Amino acid sequence: KNILFAASECTPFIKTGGLADVIGSLPQALNTDRTNEVRVILPLYEGMDDSFKDSLTFVSDITVPVGWRSQQASLLSLQHEGITFYFVQNDFYFGRYGTYGYFDDGERFVFFSRAVIEALPLIDMDVDILHAHDWQTGMAVAFANIMRPDIRTVFTIHNIQHQGWMTHEAFGDLMNIGPEHFAGLEWQGMINCMKAALFHADKITTVSPTYAEEIKQPYYSEGLDSILNERSGDLIGIINGINADEYNPVTDPYIFSQYKTSRLKKKENKLFLQRELCLTEDPDIPMYVAVSRLVEQKGFHLLERILEDFLQENVQVVILGTGDYSFEQSFAYFASRYPKKMATLLKFSEATARQLYAASDFFIMPSKFEPCGLSQLIALQYKSIPIVRETGGLRDTVQPFNEITGEGNGFSFANYNAHELLYTLRYSLLTYSRPDIYKPLIKNVNKSQFSWKDSAKLYTGVYKELVSR
Ligand code: GLC
Repeated sequence: KNILFAASECTPFIKTGGLADVIGSLPQALNTDRTNEVRVILPLYEGMDDSFKDSLTFVSDITVPVGWRSQQASLLSLQHEGITFYFVQNDFYFGRYGTYGYFDDGERFVFFSRAVIEALPLIDMDVDILHAHDWQTGMAVAFANIMRPDIRTVFTIHNIQHQGWMTHEAFGDLMNIGPEHFAGLEWQGMINCMKAALFHADKITTVSPTYAEEIKQPYYSEGLDSILNERSGDLIGIINGINADEYNPVTDPYIFSQYKTSRLKKKENKLFLQRELCLTEDPDIPMYVAVSRLVEQKGFHLLERILEDFLQENVQVVILGTGDYSFEQSFAYFASRYPKKMATLLKFSEATARQLYAASDFFIMPSKFEPCGLSQLIALQYKSIPIVRETGGLRDTVQPFNEITGEGNGFSFANYNAHELLYTLRYSLLTYSRPDIYKPLIKNVNKSQFSWKDSAKLYTGVYKELVSR
């Protein structure tokens, strides 16, 4: 099967979140099965590293019929780790700083989506399946279904909160398709790129089985539950994997002391970090970390509420990330109030992130919702015990420790409630001083594995079913 991934970000070219990690690692996993060839098409952003820009080769000019008059773009390509990547270059739309957050994001990604369709006949592969990811490429699914009925489509929801809303006038001004298609793209009087994809896709996937169930309910659906219920026969949840070679404490060049399972080496990493961050230098103090975008989704309202209480215990807390100003300010406040116990690092740094995974005993991730979540998987790789809320992919990957059966690789709680989090944090702290619990728990953590292998099989199954239809 020939599959073209369309997405708005991908490591190592450009990244804002977990989507980039998935697009950067799933194609490799799929291509190991010889029946697939996956290639990837992306916008060419200003921020992409020059070393990549320099290795681009020209494929073709493309005319993209979006807006009042058609617009020009270039289609470029490059090979990276055995995968063919295509880039759509149009400096007006993508020659800007960063990825998203512009007033005309809707128009930018309608443009990109249409460019994907125009690129299909220009690449040297007959595409059987267009697999698009998140709202930015949602319109590509709609356009494909309307203009290329020979191609099957898959749409993956990585996060239903962002949908790509535009005023209904955008339909006439931008889309250049017949008025009969308005209803498929419309939602509550506006154009909605994600809904358009949910309406048009042959198959819909999302990134964990639990999230696939949750988004059929109003609490999680961000208004799209009715259409997801209509389409539930074609909706499947497939858990994300991580690249276990990339996130590997045995070889990680960023961390102070490489290790496999040794607690002693882990403590060396902790001491190193304590020194770096001017925390009390004592490897026996349990360290809790959060590495995340500082946004509501990740449950920081809960942590903020109970941090003062939790910091009365003999613990250390380190937070790394950037995001909403109010979270940045309040975590900076706690760090200044308890400088020996808490550090807040308001930045994004891959190296520091790895050092935190390696140094910490516990990883805090009390998300309000979490389609899959990758950080808890990385934490498990680095033997940092995840403490999560039971939602989405967190529920599917972290099993709460059961003292009686000895099962479980972390801690979890059910309700979006700050004191449930506090209780769970205190319980985790208790286990740290109780070898009878801590030992079997760490054993289970060491055994946890989340490679792409099983998930790649499930995707291949979806593709096979579509092409044989
Ligand atoms: C989004 C989701 C996250 C998921 C990632 C990759 O960032 O918020 O839960 O892991 O996409 O699918």
